[in-house]
Amino acid sequence: MEKTFAEEVAEGLSASPKFLSSKYHYDDEGSRIFQEIMAMPEYYLTDCEMDIMKNRAIEIYEATRFKGHFNIIELGAGDGLKTKELLRNLLAVGADFTFVPIDISEEAINLLVKSMQASLPELKMNPQVGDYFEVMDKVESEDDCPNLVLFLGSNIGNFRPEWAIDILQHMNEHMRSGDKLIVGFDLMKDPNLIRAAYDDSHGITARFNLNLLNRINRELGGNFNVNKFGFYSFYNPVNGDVRSFLFSKEQQEVEITATEKSFKFEKDEMIWTELSKKYSPSGIEKLGADAGFEFNQHFVDSKGYFSDSLYSKP
Ligand code: AVJ
Repeated sequence: MEKTFAEEVAEGLSASPKFLSSKYHYDDEGSRIFQEIMAMPEYYLTDCEMDIMKNRAIEIYEATRFKGHFNIIELGAGDGLKTKELLRNLLAVGADFTFVPIDISEEAINLLVKSMQASLPELKMNPQVGDYFEVMDKVESEDDCPNLVLFLGSNIGNFRPEWAIDILQHMNEHMRSGDKLIVGFDLMKDPNLIRAAYDDSHGITARFNLNLLNRINRELGGNFNVNKFGFYSFYNPVNGDVRSFLFSKEQQEVEITATEKSFKFEKDEMIWTELSKKYSPSGIEKLGADAGFEFNQHFVDSKGYFSDSLYSKP
């Protein structure tokens, strides 16, 4: 059974050092703040992946070597703005495919479908709400055309290396021989650029992290005073880790009704809230191999900051 939000919060705030899972950043308010992050000039990731989807789409299609009909299965489709460029380019060269966006949020899928229909009326779609892997199995059982699976946006960066292997291995198990996978990776680069993307002077990323405490207050009956917490983020260019934290500005105790517990914080005690891992090209190749994939090609933006890397299931 999956742990509940309350259970995970209780576990993370009882641990030493304390942590909270980054998957809980994305309630409605957190998703709105993430949109603000993507609009910041410092947060280069979105523009770079957009550049790849606009300018490298045909090369990506040719590299798949798919000829007849295929599915494009997107895991965690989000607002779909980048994927839309890929799809637009593939439709323009007459590629024959069905777009299968998968998301756990029905609302997200409904919005995505509307937006795709409005801009690409000729697009064939098979939208799915649910668990990634269950839906992948279902799509494969319905027809035997090849699949191109997309896991974009550097979402893989939130997983520690052993979990990243695990999640790609899991994808591999739910794919057929000859199927392709594209994963979006943020590349190691000038460490100053990376630091600026996660420690912005506007305070937007700080708000994004503090929203976790507000969410605990809203959903779990917490009594966090967010003014008593600070935000700290740093990039370690040796291992590629951006690590983000909240810290307690003073000694305090916080009650969270749903956990039936209270939690003590020392002055300056840290809560680890996110890993945003950066990869080298060789690290991307090794990760794929460790998960049972054959590496095909890196599709990098014009600045060389971001890679959508293509793998095949042997
Ligand atoms: C959505 C996980 C790709 O790690 O870059 C942005 C989230 N966190 N700024 C990232 C995020 C702080 C983002 N991902």
